[in-house]
Amino acid sequence: MQNVMITGAGRTYALGYNLVLRYLERGDLVVATVRKPNNALTGLQERYGDRLIILIMDIGDTESVNRAAAELSGKMGHLDLIVNNAVTVSPDCDKEFWDLNLDYIAGTVNVTAVGAMRVIKAFYPLLKKSPTTALIINISSEAGSISKCYRTRQIEYGMAKAALNMATMNLANTFKDDDQINIFCVHPGWIRTDGREDNPAPLSSYEAAGILMDLFEHRRFDKDGHRFITNEGEDYPF
Ligand SMILES: NC(=O)c1ccc[n+]([C@@H]2O[C@H](COP(=O)([O-])OP(=O)(O)OC[C@H]3O[C@@H](n4cnc5c(N)ncnc54)[C@H](OP(=O)(O)O)[C@@H]3O)[C@@H](O)[C@H]2O)c1
Repeated sequence: MQNVMITGAGRTYALGYNLVLRYLERGDLVVATVRKPNNALTGLQERYGDRLIILIMDIGDTESVNRAAAELSGKMGHLDLIVNNAVTVSPDCDKEFWDLNLDYIAGTVNVTAVGAMRVIKAFYPLLKKSPTTALIINISSEAGSISKCYRTRQIEYGMAKAALNMATMNLANTFKDDDQINIFCVHPGWIRTDGREDNPAPLSSYEAAGILMDLFEHRRFDKDGHRFITNEGEDYPF
């Protein structure tokens, strides 16, 4: 049984909630983080009882993250896995450069990239207490690859995920000689995370979560491989 924490877990059709569900089904102790109380997670708690801890945390706010970490330390002795899944974009995300309000970009980067770093910093003491090599997974995207970039839209999203990738690489250097901590950024595949029937993405969030769970265990002890990988375990260029 592992202790795992997933950020941004409140939407039943999206990836975070389905990772929570998969880990609960596997028998783990799961921390699901959300910005505000959430009925779907409360429903899961009725089914899984004490194996699900719901933690209120806004990853855009350092105080909120630190408060959540302190609260969890009183409830749980260690963490074996953190999945930084939460993401945000502005209403201008799909606009071309000329139409985009550039002042939205900092907010997207603040939550999507800096937010993951806040979580890693605040929850690090719990990761260090893991009896195994604790794993940090930053859910990135192929859209965060600078070398493969083909888009003219979603600039803020690409920038935020590229920043998250840089943070991952920098922290991999920080943890290089520490066998107790490992870190990757992962493109999770193309997923119907909006829950729409007409979404052409090949994977449901539940299917994607199952694939990712296996991948994380497969790579837990790999400290030497490329740090940016796909849901199929392939190296992806930064
Ligand atoms: N769908 C794809 O094909 C695809 C492809 C590549 C990468 N990804 C990545 O996969 C991950 C999951 O995608 P998704 O579409 O399932 O995400 P999503 O539905 O947009 O869910 C993201 C979650 O992040 C939460 N969040 C937003 N701002 C937050 C904040 N300040 N503090 C804490 N939580 C916050 C949201 O909470 P609220 O519910 O409170 O708003 C939401 O539950 C994302 O990192 C995404 O970039 C997806």
